[in-house]
Amino acid sequence: MKNIVCLISGRGSNLDALLQAAEAQQWPHQLDAHVAGVISNRADAEGLQVAARHGVPAQVIDHRARASREAFEADLQKAIDAWQPALVVLAGFMRVLTDRFVEHFRGRMINVHPSLLPSFPGLATHRQALAAGVRVHGATVHFVATAVDGGAIIGQAVVPVLPQDTEEALAARVLAEEHRLLPHCVRLVLEGRVVLRDGRVRLHGVDGRDLARLAVLP
Ligand code: GRF
Repeated sequence: MKNIVCLISGRGSNLDALLQAAEAQQWPHQLDAHVAGVISNRADAEGLQVAARHGVPAQVIDHRARASREAFEADLQKAIDAWQPALVVLAGFMRVLTDRFVEHFRGRMINVHPSLLPSFPGLATHRQALAAGVRVHGATVHFVATAVDGGAIIGQAVVPVLPQDTEEALAARVLAEEHRLLPHCVRLVLEGRVVLRDGRVRLHGVDGRDLARLAVLP
């Protein structure tokens, strides 16, 4: 059985979407894969309840209780490695990771980011999009690389920016797409149909329907 480990920091709606897809599509039977564990860097993350609701073991590794970023990551890596994961999913995980940590999980760690990368990396992406006056915005799932939000892109979903949009309205529109995009991307990586090679994403046996799930237009 392939183990997926999800890292979270907050609400956990992407985690919920992933677990719902895994249940609806019977990943343990269809893909020989399951979400084996969830790790949060915050004890008050609502996503811990999401994990509990789905019967997935969860643990807290509090970065504030460690003396340094390195000490935090050493404990985090140990906890993740204990599951020998095929894939690590950053599902709203809000800590910047060191190069050493990223290298350790290279090709088997992915992130969901609320913008059409390479536009608007970092925080407050919806505010950045509104300030820039773009007409389209969206979500990206990518392999994690040492540059923050800079890894090879697996899938993207586009949403329109409407004239009356607030940050919240735009965020909600993007979030709904994150919830659809992330499970598709996780599935294709688990199936070995999306692979990171030489810093680029290679596709194997991906048909038109899969492609439409990796490049979602409004
Ligand atoms: C999502 O927008 C994700 O892309 C970003 O933080 C948010 C997390 O939401 N990195 P949730 O915890 O999955 O509900």
